[in-house]
Order: sequence, then C-alpha cells, then structure tokens
Amino acid sequence: MKQKLIFVVVSFLLLSSCDNNNHGGNMMGGGGMMGNIEIRGERPPQETNSQYVSGYQQAKITCTQCHALPHPNQHTSSEWPNVITRMENHIRTYGKSMPDKTELKSIINYYVGNAN
Ligand code: HEC
Repeated sequence: MKQKLIFVVVSFLLLSSCDNNNHGGNMMGGGGMMGNIEIRGERPPQETNSQYVSGYQQAKITCTQCHALPHPNQHTSSEWPNVITRMENHIRTYGKSMPDKTELKSIINYYVGNAN
C-alpha cells in the first residue's frame, strides 16, 4: 500500500516536470502573439512628396510596432480608412502606443493618397 502511494507521487512529479518543460518550449518558440503577422508585397519606398512625408514617418513608427510596414498599393483608397480603423482596435487590444488624431490623419492621408 505504502509502495503504491510512493509510486503515484513519483509519477505525478515526473509528469508535472514534463509538463513544465513543454510549456517552457512553447514560450520560447512562439515569439509572442504578434510574432509573425505576414504583410503581403513589397515595403514602401522612402517617401519624398512633402505632402506625405510626415504620414510616412508616423506610419513607420506606428505600424512596425506589430508588423512590417505595408505598401499603400495593398488596398484601394476607399479601403484604407477601414483597415486603419481596424488597426486602431488592435493597438487598443494589445496596449501599443496610439498616434494622436493629427498623426492618425497624416497616416491615413499617406495611405489613401498613395493607394491604387
Ligand atoms: C497593435 C498591433 C498592430 C499595429 C500597431 C498595426 N497593425 Fe496592422 N495588423 C495587425 C494584426 C493583428 C493584423 C492581422 C489581423 C488583421 O488583418 O486585422 C494586421 C494586419 C494588417 C494588414 C494585412 C491585412 C489587410 O487588411 O490587408 C495590413 C495592410 C495592416 N495590418 C496595416 C497596418 C497599418 C497601415 C498600420 C499602421 C497605421 C498597422 N497595420 C498597425 C496588428 C497591428
């Protein structure tokens, strides 16, 4: 009876240490929730049109908190405002730093103005 109890305790310890190892492995490999969001296509070139430079710079700061900087030609000018609204929700969800109203406007301006 005593032996059986010891066996149970030992196997429990073995099992739980295995379990811990697995968790450790997952955490190392996963790279966190925002680790690998794929952004299609090429990266946008350095913006030189003075109308869009501040939006481009702000987008570089804001968007790359989570993934590569998307090229404006990935969406039409009518789609971009909705995409960016969705990104604002992601920023809130993940507690990333939110651009202020003026900065957001300049980002939208950059994407809408350079879209297909
Ligand atoms: C807080 C993290 C976060 C930030 C900051 C962020 N995104 Fe995203 N983005 C995501 C996530 C998560 C996805 C994948 C899910 C989805 O498409 O909503 C994504 C996907 C995308 C996609 C691909 C899907 C599609 O609709 O084409 C584009 C384009 C995109 N983001 C644009 C942007 C732009 C532009 C910015 C900067 C203004 C930005 N994102 C900032 C989290 C973020």
